[in-house]
Amino acid sequence: MDEKISILISEEEVSRRIEELGKQISKDYEGKTLHMICVLKGGVFFMCELAKHITVPVTLDFMSVSSYGDATSSSGAVKLVKDLDQPLEGKDVLIAEDIIDSGNTLHYLSGLLKGRKPASLKICTLLDKPDRRTAPVDVQYTGFEIPDKFVVGYGLDYKQMYRNLPYIGVVEQ
Ligand code: IMP
Ligand code: MG
Repeated sequence: MDEKISILISEEEVSRRIEELGKQISKDYEGKTLHMICVLKGGVFFMCELAKHITVPVTLDFMSVSSYGDATSSSGAVKLVKDLDQPLEGKDVLIAEDIIDSGNTLHYLSGLLKGRKPASLKICTLLDKPDRRTAPVDVQYTGFEIPDKFVVGYGLDYKQMYRNLPYIGVVEQ
């Protein structure tokens, strides 16, 4: 636990950007109820903060997935660890995710959730590492595009640590 963390995106920048995303989403979903889905555990800080800035009615649900294999070499296969509590049929669904890296997780999730016949399905991610994409993902809202670095904070972990940092940091090796 002696890693050095350097700040990549400050707490103020993260807050400001989430507020902007909230305003944009509120506008886009005017007159509708938004059903937000959090991908545990990384997405939880982002979804909660984002939801506070959304002015249309919001309902929340949670799910958990994990990649097969170890954390650094994704096999591309994704396992559903905890399913949603509520059905999606007819709902305007927005997935809130911490980061899109290879795209495997959201590629899998989008396919799974589309099969449940939501009225609409969109994705909002706090961070995107486009350089690492191997599976196609249609992302409608992105907080920040970042370079190919391993980041922590705001829900993101390194060996389950650092999720509670209020900023996005880079783990110095
Ligand atoms: P993907 O399936 O490769 O897009 O990976 C998505 C998941 O990998 C994210 O939801 C994170 O849990 C994890 N992940 C990817 N990059 C990072 C990172 O830089 N820091 C922490 N977790 C990461
Ligand atoms: Mg995640």
